[in-house]
Amino acid sequence: MALQATALAEPDTVPETSEGPARLWLRLLRSPLTLTGLVITLVFIVLAVIAPWISPYDPSAVSDTALAAPSGSHWLGTTQNGQDILSQMLYGARASMLVGLGAAVLTTVLSVLVGVTAGYVGGIGDEVLSLLANVFLVLPSLPLTIILAAYLPHSGSLGIILVITVTGWAWGARVLRAQTLSLRKRDFVEAARATGETTWRIILKDILPNQVAVIAASFLGTVIFAILTQASLAFLGLADVTQWSWGTILYWAQTGSALLTGAWWWFVPAGLAIAVLGTALSLVNFGIDEFINPRLRQAGIGTKKAQRAQVSARRPRAPRKRGPVAERPASAPFTPGSTDVILDVRHLKVDYVGGGGRTPAVSDVSFTLRRGEVLGIAGESGSGKSTLAYAITRLHKPPAEISQGQVLYTRPDGSTVDVLSLDEHELRAFRWEELSIVFQSAMHALNPILRIGAQIEDVIVAHRPAMNGQQRAARVIELLGIVGIPADRANSYPHELSGGMRQRAMIAVGLALDPEIIVMDEPTTALDVVIQRQIIEKIMELKDRLGFSVVFITHDLSLLIELSDTIAVMYGGKIVEQASADDFYRRPQHPYSRGLLASFPTLGGAKRELTGIVGSPPDLRKLPSGCSFRPRCPLAFDACADTVPPLFQIQGPGGGLSQAACLLHDPAGRAAGNSTDELATGETR
Ligand SMILES: Nc1ncnc2c1ncn2[C@@H]1O[C@H](COP(=O)(O)OP(=O)(O)OP(=O)(O)O)[C@@H](O)[C@H]1O
Ligand code: SF4
Ligand SMILES: [Mg+2]
Repeated sequence: MALQATALAEPDTVPETSEGPARLWLRLLRSPLTLTGLVITLVFIVLAVIAPWISPYDPSAVSDTALAAPSGSHWLGTTQNGQDILSQMLYGARASMLVGLGAAVLTTVLSVLVGVTAGYVGGIGDEVLSLLANVFLVLPSLPLTIILAAYLPHSGSLGIILVITVTGWAWGARVLRAQTLSLRKRDFVEAARATGETTWRIILKDILPNQVAVIAASFLGTVIFAILTQASLAFLGLADVTQWSWGTILYWAQTGSALLTGAWWWFVPAGLAIAVLGTALSLVNFGIDEFINPRLRQAGIGTKKAQRAQVSARRPRAPRKRGPVAERPASAPFTPGSTDVILDVRHLKVDYVGGGGRTPAVSDVSFTLRRGEVLGIAGESGSGKSTLAYAITRLHKPPAEISQGQVLYTRPDGSTVDVLSLDEHELRAFRWEELSIVFQSAMHALNPILRIGAQIEDVIVAHRPAMNGQQRAARVIELLGIVGIPADRANSYPHELSGGMRQRAMIAVGLALDPEIIVMDEPTTALDVVIQRQIIEKIMELKDRLGFSVVFITHDLSLLIELSDTIAVMYGGKIVEQASADDFYRRPQHPYSRGLLASFPTLGGAKRELTGIVGSPPDLRKLPSGCSFRPRCPLAFDACADTVPPLFQIQGPGGGLSQAACLLHDPAGRAAGNSTDELATGETR
């Protein structure tokens, strides 16, 4: 199959501004505030490490120079026992930094483990872990810290680290759980799940990176909190006061009445060190926020020179003629008479369970999709289109339940797969290999902190573990070329692309494994008409070239008629009409379809008045008796109140067979004095 990169005419309005990793670090260092914070923190860490070698005196050694103010021989003065305060500060930095970093590492690890696990797994696991966190949250942490510290007086820094970890992890866990709960419902996480990524990869690549700002803030906050807690405990005499830390310096200054005797040099350095370190960590925190969030990061980028440098640094590699993912030979083009069914949906029923009842969102829906066919699904909001799409891809989630029906997929080799009986492992292989989905909003379905290329590559990693990095990169470039995105855009973040490009990137994700069927749920709704048209043309061109089948959902009936081979119209959770697009356009067989068509401008031919449909879609839990369209139907007659119309077979104007669930097509309906001639007035051209 000849796959050539074709760039679309869509204006590339969004500047290209991605940076490489090395540049990112440089940028982090170029922020003066962050750099100041980093330098100060580093100085403290280095001083703590080399304290034994640079301290002028033994911090505990007494001398005759008691309570001496800072001088050449004692830069920070002495205590009332003549001990050198500079040496105590240097040795004290070791204990304080150890407690700060140790407690922060343990607390953060515990918070992340409990918070992210609880938020992601949900159910009973979430309840147990949340209960545990809640118990620790309601414990009064200050008295508990004091009690625990009092029972561990000689355990040194390790005791304090444990005390701070035990009393401090629950808050972070709660915050991370809430964040994870919100993230796991985001479209890009759903999309990653749908593409077959494992839970661990989703947590590590989609959930955690989006929480790094919170985790980093919590880590740095805990460092300073732990140093302060240790200082407070030491100041109160609850820590081992024979071990030098900034807190024990303050303790001895207080017991030596430094404040009363005016010996400011005894307590000011320790207090100042804690305050300066706290400020430095806050500055680092600001920088991390900007470093992690690509949007914030780019706020200051923009010199043309920098952008040119980035572009030239990322020259596209030549696309491979043939990708490492095996591609199907293009099948014969779809013909209306085809009987080569690829997807057979039989009597599917999907309910939303809750609120003391069941909402039948999809009721007894049957249809077939043939190889190479584009099946367009139309219907007003709430008619069940997305529920149907999610159910056939098994992406529905509680409270949605499939209570009845079958979804049968036929492979090119003729073997049949019962989609609703696949186990998780089989389902992961089925989705994206055989059937993929293009979600509605690309901005939400793409991970905001991962580059486009990486997101496409993730799908390949999940399904083709044997492929090496070079092969994957080549396939990414090839896929971008197929959807008309320049190869160097692989390094862009979603927000750096225009809406049309993002949507085409989603299509590239959908095509990554060369599936047989692509389900598209309103893939172009958020785009303007020009871009919409370009995307649709691209989809059609790809379909013809690659030979996949499409289930296409949209509100836009004109668009649907133009691109579909067959149209299915849903109303109140049922398919009420199914016909070839041509027959449907020439003569809709259901009054609802006629109303829908009358709500849209014609694609050509004579002008006509746009009338629309009176009333609103039905409440699915209280459907009217008989035909559910009856309260809105201008052609309703008596029998419509008693009889639920089945789908009747009708000869369409083009000679093909259509189906419509309307009693006007039932001989009994005609017998009552009504006829399909009434519908003829709705003929649209
Ligand atoms: N989580 C849910 N809980 C209960 N009912 C739901 C839920 N999600 C959808 N529904 C109901 O199911 C019905 C079908 O919804 P669905 O989203 O499938 O419609 P749709 O045709 O895709 O609409 P739209 O065109 O607005 O996307 C609606 O009446 C809706 O109220
Ligand atoms: S069955 Fe009756 S109410 Fe329903 S669409 Fe047909 S004419 Fe209208
Ligand atoms: Mg929908």
